[in-house]
Amino acid sequence: MSDASDWDAKHQLRRHDEVGGVDPFVSEALDRLGPGEGRRALDLAAGRGRHALELARRGYEVTAVDSSAEALEQVSRHARAEGLQVATRLADLESEEWARGLPPADLILVVNYLDRALFTRLSAHLRAGGRLLLATFTKDRVGDRPSERWCLEAGELASAFANGIVELCEERNGRAGVLTLFGERSSTR
Ligand SMILES: C[S@@+](CC[C@H](N)C(=O)[O-])C[C@H]1O[C@@H](n2cnc3c(N)ncnc32)[C@H](O)[C@@H]1O
Repeated sequence: MSDASDWDAKHQLRRHDEVGGVDPFVSEALDRLGPGEGRRALDLAAGRGRHALELARRGYEVTAVDSSAEALEQVSRHARAEGLQVATRLADLESEEWARGLPPADLILVVNYLDRALFTRLSAHLRAGGRLLLATFTKDRVGDRPSERWCLEAGELASAFANGIVELCEERNGRAGVLTLFGERSSTR
C-alpha cells in the first residue's frame, strides 16, 4: 500500500495507540552516534513518528517527512505531548520536490520504507560527513512483513551503499540495516 489516502486510513486506525518502540538496529546506531545536539536529522516516510520523536529526545533538530497528513498530524500531537520539537513536511518522496529548501542533513533515517531509486539519491541531501541510517525487512522474513515487493534481497543494503563508509551493517531475523558515512571523516565529530 503506497497511496497516501490508504496510509491515512491505516494510520487513522492507530490514532489512539502509542507510536511504538524504536527499531533495535536504529537504537544501536543512534547510541553509537552520540548526542544529537547541533545536528539536523530527516526521518523519511516517518509514519506516526516513533523515530522522529526518538531523534528529538536525543537532541536532534528533526524534520519528519511523509505523504500521509494523518501520520504527520499524529507526529505533531505526540511531540507536543512530550514537549519535543519535530518539524513536519507533507511530501511525496517519489517526487524530486520533497527536499526543496531543506538544508543538508547530518543524518537521514529511513525505516520500513523501500524505494531503491530514492536510496541511491539520498547522499545528495547530506552534508559532508553526514550519515544514512536505513533499516527494513528482507524477503526471508518469517511471519509479519510487507509483500515481497517491499522487501530487500539478502545482502542488498550493504552492496547498495558500498560507495560510502559502512559503519554498521546487520542482517538478521528477516531485517537488514546499514549506517553509512558519506564525505570527509574529519568533518564529523
Ligand atoms: C511502514 S510505514 C513506516 C513508518 C516509519 N518509518 C516507521 O518505521 O515506523 C511507511 C510510511 O511510508 C509513507 N509513505 C509511503 N509512500 C510514501 C511516499 N511516496 N512519500 C512519502 N511517504 C510515503 C506512509 O505514509 C507510511 O507512513
